[in-house]
Amino acid sequence: MRVDLRSAVEGDLAALHALEVAVFGSHAYPVSVLRQYFDLLRPDLVVAEVEGGELAGYGVGGLCAGEPATGWVLAYGVDPRWRGRRLGDRILRELIRRLVARGAMRILATVSPVNEASRRVCEGAGFEAVQTIADYFGPGEDRLVMQWRAEASG
Ligand SMILES: CC(C)(COP(=O)(O)OP(=O)(O)OC[C@H]1O[C@@H](n2cnc3c(N)ncnc32)[C@H](O)[C@@H]1OP(=O)(O)O)[C@@H](O)C(=O)NCCC(=O)NCCS
Repeated sequence: MRVDLRSAVEGDLAALHALEVAVFGSHAYPVSVLRQYFDLLRPDLVVAEVEGGELAGYGVGGLCAGEPATGWVLAYGVDPRWRGRRLGDRILRELIRRLVARGAMRILATVSPVNEASRRVCEGAGFEAVQTIADYFGPGEDRLVMQWRAEASG
């Protein structure tokens, strides 16, 4: 399967929002948030384009303002029709590569404690769970904080 992992361009935004809805349903970012991520984080808004030009997955991250040795993976996901083909793994590793190339020494991400798939993908890419924060995204929305460290990745 040929996959092009590339930075998003403005013309991707409509398809990116459709992908976001397919991945996250009622929790999808609105178009306005994707637009602002695009404006602010463009090189680290990565889409996975498959044959035929379809966007099968995406990920977004960025360096922490005021603490540029720390990067964040804010979200990533794969269209349900394209799961199980290592796209999640490839997108996450591409985000790590890009953030490290611009100075990140550690990268953080949050994962729901019941999101086994995402936890597995993160652990496979070298993240480890370092903390659980109750109500991180509001009541009942606990999150595991996952950390990737350059020194631990060799
Ligand atoms: C998490 C997600 C991106 C995984 O994408 P994917 O392309 O299917 O995952 P991959 O094929 O790259 O799998 C990588 C590893 O994770 C494991 N994995 C993937 N889905 C899994 C599942 N549902 N349960 C258990 N393990 C799973 C794979 O077995 C593989 O493990 P291995 O390296 O030991 O072989 C996808 O399920 C998704 O989009 N989920 C909804 C959005 C989401 O939760 N995003 C993350 C939080 S923002």
